[in-house]
Amino acid sequence: MIKIAIDGPGGAGKSTVAKAVAAKLGIIYVDTGALYRTVGLYVKMQGVSPEDKAGVIGCLGGIHIELGYVDGKQHVYLNGKDHGDEIRTPEMSMYASKVSAIPEVRAFLLDTQRDIASKNSVIMDGRDIGTVILPDAEVKIFLTASEECRAKRRYEELIAKGQKVTYEDVLNEMNQRDRQDSTREVAPTAAAADAVLLDNTGMTFDQTVDAVVALAQKAQNK
Ligand code: DC
Repeated sequence: MIKIAIDGPGGAGKSTVAKAVAAKLGIIYVDTGALYRTVGLYVKMQGVSPEDKAGVIGCLGGIHIELGYVDGKQHVYLNGKDHGDEIRTPEMSMYASKVSAIPEVRAFLLDTQRDIASKNSVIMDGRDIGTVILPDAEVKIFLTASEECRAKRRYEELIAKGQKVTYEDVLNEMNQRDRQDSTREVAPTAAAADAVLLDNTGMTFDQTVDAVVALAQKAQNK
């Protein structure tokens, strides 16, 4: 069994890299951002503002979240229903970032994340995986890249999905979200003291994947 934690700001390529590494190593990829996005979606469906802390906490009792895997692809079931790409819009990114700053929301999602890692070899991406969720992970990586590079990647990803966005909007939204995520009081985005810092600004996707696989293999051969 191996646990690999990948944390870092938005647009660093955590999810695409983690997915590719999972496929190469034959382990499960856990996208923890999807859990916060799903809480955000439910909050929106209830007509509650993500900034209304008491309102968001009040929503938690109505949420049952389950993670499932079909052909290696993660599905999040909110009260039994998979909402697919509905959680992937820029609006849901902002909802997720806001609700994730509430300690009760983080506590609510803790067991789901630890449970899956206790039963499977995983590569898990998020903001606090190496610091809070899996402090005993064999490999911890803090993946980052320059602001321009991250915004460009996020922009191209959204355009490819057919969303109508401008580069400036993506850059502003990303910076606002990173600021929120890294300055909140509970579990802010941070590199664990024992994490390897990987800045992939000048690296290709394949080089980044290879670097993570190499770190995993080194840890497994220990
Ligand atoms: O990785 P993502 O963009 O899907 O995450 C959406 C939001 O969820 C992000 O802005 C902050 C929050 N999040 C978090 O607080 N902790 C995590 N482990 C993962 C995501």
